[in-house]
Amino acid sequence: MIAFNNNIFHLTGKDFSYQMMIDEKGVLLHSYYGKRIEEEVSPITEQKDRGFSPNALFFDKRTYSYDSLPLELSTLGMGDFRKPAIAVENEDNSITLNLRYHSHEIFNEAKKSELLPGLYGGGGETLVITLKDDAYCIEVKIYYVLFPSYNAFSRYLEIKNLAEGDKTFHSLSSTSLDLSFGKYDLISFTGRHCFERNFNRSKMDALTLNASSSRGTSSHQINPAFIIAERETTEDTGIAFSLHLVYSGSFNFNISKDQYSSYRVILGMGDENMPYILKKGEMITTPQVIHTFSDKGLNNLSNTISDLFKEHLINKNTLSCKAPVLINNWEATYFDFDGTKLINIARKAKKLGVDLFVLDDGWFGKRNDDKSSLGDWFANEEKLGMSLSSLSDRIHKMGMKFGLWIEPEMISRDSKLYREHPDWLMRTPKQEPVKSRDQYILDITNDEAFSYIKNAICNLLDNVKIDYIKWDMNRSLSDIYSPVNRTKRGNTAHNFVLRLYHLLNIVKTNYSNILLEGCSGGGGRFDAGMLYYTPQIWLSDNTDALNRAEIQYNSSYVYPFSAFGAHVSAVPNHQTYRTIPIETRSAIAFLGTYGLELDPEKISDEDGNFLKTEIKRFKSYSNKLKNSHLYRIEKSQYVTCFLTVEKNRKSALLTAILKEREGNPLPIYVKLKGLDPNYTYSVFDKLYKGSTLMNYGLSLPFENKEYPSISYIMKAVKS
Ligand code: GLA
Repeated sequence: MIAFNNNIFHLTGKDFSYQMMIDEKGVLLHSYYGKRIEEEVSPITEQKDRGFSPNALFFDKRTYSYDSLPLELSTLGMGDFRKPAIAVENEDNSITLNLRYHSHEIFNEAKKSELLPGLYGGGGETLVITLKDDAYCIEVKIYYVLFPSYNAFSRYLEIKNLAEGDKTFHSLSSTSLDLSFGKYDLISFTGRHCFERNFNRSKMDALTLNASSSRGTSSHQINPAFIIAERETTEDTGIAFSLHLVYSGSFNFNISKDQYSSYRVILGMGDENMPYILKKGEMITTPQVIHTFSDKGLNNLSNTISDLFKEHLINKNTLSCKAPVLINNWEATYFDFDGTKLINIARKAKKLGVDLFVLDDGWFGKRNDDKSSLGDWFANEEKLGMSLSSLSDRIHKMGMKFGLWIEPEMISRDSKLYREHPDWLMRTPKQEPVKSRDQYILDITNDEAFSYIKNAICNLLDNVKIDYIKWDMNRSLSDIYSPVNRTKRGNTAHNFVLRLYHLLNIVKTNYSNILLEGCSGGGGRFDAGMLYYTPQIWLSDNTDALNRAEIQYNSSYVYPFSAFGAHVSAVPNHQTYRTIPIETRSAIAFLGTYGLELDPEKISDEDGNFLKTEIKRFKSYSNKLKNSHLYRIEKSQYVTCFLTVEKNRKSALLTAILKEREGNPLPIYVKLKGLDPNYTYSVFDKLYKGSTLMNYGLSLPFENKEYPSISYIMKAVKS
């Protein structure tokens, strides 16, 4: 519910309250964010005459300083020396932004910008507070989108330049949260290509902490999802809240501790998107930041995120709801294939029960390695030995769906496209552009290049029967400059992301039956922005089950496991050269979309039969999995253990992998979570009450072999 009483805005979610106050001079102060309270409150901050904390002239009181107040939207030039959410240079080069309350409106719907991804769907409410700087003619609307039955809201800004000249933004963050007191930990997810989203938890007591991506994408290196947890918070108890930037470009996350031990948390578009010029009369909408809250620990927070995202963020269509099991030929063939080889793979996969055949990189232009042809989105019929349509038709005739890999935002120098349009390659006019994986960035901010790529995608989708697209992006953005538009770097970087979203939106809307899977060298663009369009994202290029278990465990803190692209690949593994038993590879792929990334012609009959049974088991349980919560049971040197529990608690999938074994090993005991204490579950052919499994625990019966695992569906036999 959103209420407004005594100049205080009060957002009430399931278990939390968020409050702001308009003070007597019209400044919007942050009053409270935490466990639900019923009363309206003003900021707890003591107002004192504090040395070197200046007083805004309009508020002629030595006890009133922006420098020591919790501000709902921090700016420059008003005597607050902390990092601002918005830094703007006015048309006369001054930097002061004096925003005061003007008006507000409350709507009974979730409001969302057409241009950007964000929360949608029924049951939402929106508060829009309009602030204005009348002298410098800027209007800022802060949007708060609340889903009252969840512990969640999102926030974003709409900024209009009403002045005669240009406004130059140096910082444009969507959220600025001033926490007046408390002891917190910051949880972030850092990594690298093939090892994304490592879990980091550290005390939040550094003076400033900056965690940003300047890669033009959300990146493998640091994910734009963060958790702030009270110091004592555990998986199962305590207060924690998350912030997800719903954006796939560069971002900026900053925490600073001020002189009075308050924290300011800022999240928004990154420095790479600056300076951003807003011309006279123009408006910019900043990406949403989704805030979720838990007073029952981190696991509860993760399940809130998962429920919210599945219901109000992630695009759903008939195919995504069916959770098709796919086979992708990448690790099976790399670039070395022809149509016959692909058909043989598909035929064998069909026998295993696979629903969808995905043709990965190498089908277009004259691409036989990663050095050429990006941009030439027409099939290499000579290589395939047939047209793409006839390949697709033959796959469909086998009773399978057909999917295709594309990488629309890229261009190779060795391509017909580049030879015809060298100025469609993003680069600065006087330096050679930086190459990465031998490829360059297509300047989709240029209208002509954009319509070329749009038409190329639509032509493919109009002329070939395609049920699924793997949308890849295999490098970071550098040389962010449009040789044709010559706009400021920030406008180019942001417009690039907007154009990407526009393309994705065309596919999502006009080809609504197609299932989109996101990818960027695996998990380089695993973010809430992409999830709005692509209900699944290839989690990592690392398909080693041991590493994957780790990546999936960590990613589950901030993303729903149902979105994790996860495949069973061949052994020895292509990234770690490790040989892990097929049961374990399959058990880990089960906690994701389940697919195959191997040549089924090359596996033993025994493995083939096993996969056939597993695919059947996955299909019969996938609807329940989609409707389950995930509980992280344990991650230690020895074991990684997960439990997914159906929301009605009638069944649960216990997954565990033994990573390291010593002679005379320690027994592995775990306590399960999330079960109904009163239900009786069958586990390894014995019956236990939920309360027993959650308190007394369970010993995990691993087989005597290397890297064994458990993937066991526990059923409630008595409720
Ligand atoms: C990226 C993807 C892989 C594969 C290759 C193809 O690295 O993550 O799965 O599609 O590109 O070039």
